[in-house]
Parts: sequence; C-alpha cells; structure tokens
Amino acid sequence: MLNRLIYTSRASGDSSLQEILAVSIAWNRAHDLTGGLVCVEGIYLQYLEGQEEEIDRVFAMISRDRRHSGLKILERRVVQRRMFADWSMATLDWNDETRAIFQSFSPGQRIDLYGTDPTTAAPLFRAWVATPHWKTGAVTALSGTC
Ligand SMILES: Cc1cc2nc3c(=O)[nH]c(=O)nc-3n(C[C@H](O)[C@H](O)[C@H](O)COP(=O)(O)O)c2cc1C
Repeated sequence: MLNRLIYTSRASGDSSLQEILAVSIAWNRAHDLTGGLVCVEGIYLQYLEGQEEEIDRVFAMISRDRRHSGLKILERRVVQRRMFADWSMATLDWNDETRAIFQSFSPGQRIDLYGTDPTTAAPLFRAWVATPHWKTGAVTALSGTC
C-alpha cells in the first residue's frame, strides 16, 4: 500500500544538502520513492511517499544518519495517490513565496520548521508542491549546508 511519511529533524554541523540529495535521488528512483526535502536554518522537514516496506526501509536508513538528530514523525498514513509524482527527491527554495506559505499555516508564529503542526504538515506540502520553487540535484548552485 502507498504510504506517506512526514518528519522533521535538526541538522548536524556538516550536513551537505547536495550530497544528501544526490544519494537520495539515486536510491529513491530505484525504489519508487518520491518526495521533497525542505531545509531552513538547521531544520529539515521531509516528505516521503512510496510502498509501505520501502518507506520503512528508507526511514530506517535516514534515522541512522548522523547528519541530523531529534527525528520527530509528524505524519505517517496510507494515501491513495502521490503528491510528488515528478521527483524522487528535490529541495525547496526558501524565498518570500515559500516562506509566506509556511506562515499561512502557522499564523503568528516565528519561523520554526521543527514546530510544524502535524495536522497541517501535508496541506503545507501540497501548497508548496503547487509552486515552481523546487530544485533537483542537477542544480549545481544548491546551497551548501542546511
Ligand atoms: C535529512 C536527510 C534526508 C535524507 N533523505 C534520504 C532519502 O530520501 N533517500 C535516501 O536514500 N537517503 C536519504 N538520506 C540519506 C540516508 O540517510 C543515507 O545516508 C543514505 O541512504 C546512504 O546510506 P549509507 O550512508 O548507509 O550508505 C537522507 C539523509 C538526511 C540527513
């Protein structure tokens, strides 16, 4: 069954986004996983979707990764269809529009992705997915660390 998993975590010092993305794109493509990785001020917010056992497997790998800590699952559930049909993994450009979308789901709060409300995490990604602000690993100008 198709599952989605949304979690947040705290990046460790030397976490290269470019490297993470390159590995993720290769693995996810081979395992029919799709999703998006958002990284803002040392916090990761990742959306993953794929078959249940593939989600379990990749999340076990991700959980062991020393490049982040404090993993907190915001949502895990069965879904009927994918939200990210196009990318095995991409990162979101943090700009006025994507920041405003985050703020529209967390009114009055300071920007803290780690504090993302679990009940609005999926709608938040749905709003972000509709924007053109995603970058894949092919983009060389990807910012260095999270
Ligand atoms: C925030 C974050 C997100 C990641 N997302 C993925 C992913 O979607 N797919 C993937 O294969 N690896 C992902 N990784 C990398 C894995 O944790 C792991 O490094 C990779 O699968 C290679 O495993 P290995 O280092 O044990 O060979 C992610 C790592 C971090 C820190």
